[in-house]
Amino acid sequence: MFMDVEALYDSMAFLYDELYGCSDDLDFYLSVARQVGGPLLELGCGTGRVIGRISQEGLECWGLDISKNMLSIARRRWPNVKFVQGNMADFSLDRSFRLILIPYRSFLHLTAEEKQRCLHSCALHLQPNGQLIIHGYLPSEEEKRFSSLSLIDTTYVKGRRVEWFFKFEEPNKGFYRIKAGDKVFEMTLYFISTKELAKMAEKAGLVVQEVFYFDPPYNQEVVWVVGKN
Ligand SMILES: C[S@@+](CC[C@H](N)C(=O)[O-])C[C@H]1O[C@@H](n2cnc3c(N)ncnc32)[C@H](O)[C@@H]1O
Repeated sequence: MFMDVEALYDSMAFLYDELYGCSDDLDFYLSVARQVGGPLLELGCGTGRVIGRISQEGLECWGLDISKNMLSIARRRWPNVKFVQGNMADFSLDRSFRLILIPYRSFLHLTAEEKQRCLHSCALHLQPNGQLIIHGYLPSEEEKRFSSLSLIDTTYVKGRRVEWFFKFEEPNKGFYRIKAGDKVFEMTLYFISTKELAKMAEKAGLVVQEVFYFDPPYNQEVVWVVGKN
């Protein structure tokens, strides 16, 4: 079964918040948003978990996502955000932003070529002193040894047993299968190192200003703070 990313999130939207249930990163995004100010844009905003919460601070907030079902949940939940359906690899909005956020590994759905185009689009939409913040993931050496599909975690959501399978494919692909009751979701993430990101950013007229991790000392949940060159 192959699902493109739009079909994947359209079919997963009704379960997304419970499946992914993350909130550890919100304080970080809120503090950056208060510091840098609006207008702000979240790419791959999903159900609005991050941009919706930021909109409660009274800042002008926009969210862009490829999945209409994720967006319809977001629109119901966060009426103060301007939501747009689109591809973060090629977007064109009639607005420039002080802050662009790409939380929760959404950037890793893009191939290398799409990442490059996304960075170009971000450069075109960032104000001169604007900031782009990308949350990525660096697979561990142990994860890179999963050369066949392996069960890596089991969780429970709305009474359903959820099984998470993972396989690493050289040089940089992570294939995930998520079995939630009778539903099966599959996705590929294209990992990227800090060095590769810095090179791509430079080509787009951007510069990586800071690198830190949400999970020291493991240093896998990487955050890149990018500015204009
Ligand atoms: C892991 S979810 C993250 C959602 C949200 N940012 C959060 O933190 O909860 C990834 C989101 O990225 C969106 N996405 C994936 N590829 C995309 C693309 N090329 N353009 C726009 N959105 C995309 C998906 O539809 C999905 O909503």
